Amino acid sequence: MAKKAKKSKTKVKAKSKAASKKVVKLKAKKPAATAKAGNGLPKPSSRPYGAAGKALDGVKILDFTHVQSGPTCTQLLAYMGADCIKVERPGVGDITRGQLRDVKGADSLYFTMLNGNKRSITIDSKHPKGKEILERLIKHCDVLVENFAPGALDRMGLTWDYIHKTNPRMIVASVKGFGPGPYEDCKVYENVAQCTGGAASTTGFREGPPLVTGAQIGDSGTGLHLAFGICAALYQRTRTGRGQKVFAAMQDGVLNLARVKLRDQQRLAHGPLTEYSQYGEGIPFGSATPRAGNDSGGGQPGWILKCKGWESDPDAYIYFITQAPVWEAICDLIGKPEWKTDPDYAKPPARLPRLKSIFATIEEWTKTKTKFEVMDICNQHDIPVGPILSMKEIAEEKSLRDTGTVVEVDHPTRGKYLTVGNPVKMSDSVTEVKRSPLLGEHTEEILTKVLGYSAKELEEIKTSGAITPPDKPAKAEAA
Ligand code: COA
Repeated sequence: MAKKAKKSKTKVKAKSKAASKKVVKLKAKKPAATAKAGNGLPKPSSRPYGAAGKALDGVKILDFTHVQSGPTCTQLLAYMGADCIKVERPGVGDITRGQLRDVKGADSLYFTMLNGNKRSITIDSKHPKGKEILERLIKHCDVLVENFAPGALDRMGLTWDYIHKTNPRMIVASVKGFGPGPYEDCKVYENVAQCTGGAASTTGFREGPPLVTGAQIGDSGTGLHLAFGICAALYQRTRTGRGQKVFAAMQDGVLNLARVKLRDQQRLAHGPLTEYSQYGEGIPFGSATPRAGNDSGGGQPGWILKCKGWESDPDAYIYFITQAPVWEAICDLIGKPEWKTDPDYAKPPARLPRLKSIFATIEEWTKTKTKFEVMDICNQHDIPVGPILSMKEIAEEKSLRDTGTVVEVDHPTRGKYLTVGNPVKMSDSVTEVKRSPLLGEHTEEILTKVLGYSAKELEEIKTSGAITPPDKPAKAEAA
């Protein structure tokens, strides 16, 4: 047997020798005229992975964003290596600097957790000198990102025509609440988007009111969509040489994340949604996708079940999925081996009308274990479950710290704080998370080193009032 194996190994070796000869021959051939070698790309870098710079090195962002949706987008781009120059109103800055303040006199966590890895310059964009500085920034940067209220950028004089004329390569990326239509002029915040994008009407319990979710799918979700659009536009620009408008409406972003509910809306025309527990309970469906409580969305029945300690710990729960292939393992675990063959329980369709009592029985078992014990036991049998992790548990989770998803950074006025690092991990573009900038921290640096103003010009700018706060504090400071 061993001899045989040796023989076949020699054969393989001989074969691969022949193959490599062939490769050498192919290499020597002149590349076809139509297929450029390497598709026009540079030679693969010989630097070790992670040492060849970052994905967006060299991309310069004129970051005109505020609150959450826009800053989420530009923070992600900054994590990827883009130089984000955040323009803020002198003396006020992004309104979130002062919102939900937990440390007196220091920038709030709302601001610091959304503006890491950026530089801050203060410019009054309505001041003539401020406009001149902005023009230089437009010429210098690749992308302008903004999420002002509809029309605000135009009112500053920064229309698409003006920007495109000043720098035809500039990409202008915007978040607004709605796309063109009846609501296009409306100001929009997170929960408005959740409600108008189809998330709220499909979240919550059937017998209760619509519910918004804690995950900021309207703001951060749309920021993420915009970042994707910007990267695509940057790539297209390598062929066309010109910029374009990139637009993400919060309603559209939420709908994109809620698309399975629009799927269900259409399925309703062909009969009830059998995986919804409402079906098993014999409650008729209306004309629109209903709220499904904690039903599992993927057609694999699931529910949130109590675990040991639920009486005092609001997060002592686990999400439990009764996936068909592991049904027998579930029956054994919960002490119901007879369900494996009982025609009322053995097959998924038979279980649908009984889901409520099935989950109640499983819960009798989960209540005897902590959520982490349930997780450990179930995973040994490939049963998909998810412990309900509190934010406290997530903040303390070692593996999230190890991967850089939760990062501690130091800040000169507020001290150490936790932030969320880059949720996208790349093998050749390693993210180093840096603290958020103080208001106007980089104003002089950007004016002189990036935009080339002389020391004399800098003094003139300083006295012009374009980068300094007006005498009276602006209204927004009180917020
Ligand atoms: N210098 C001078 N003026 C500045 C400035 C600067 N550096 N930065 C902003 N401003 C001005 C704007 O020009 C605008 O003035 P105008 O109304 O006279 O044109 C003003 O500040 C307020 O901007 P606005 O965007 O209207 O802020 P707001 O606090 O009233 O509204 C939102 C906030 C979020 C509701 C609104 O910006 C919006 O709907 N944005 C789009 C959707 C969105 O992103 N929502 C989610 C936010 S998380």
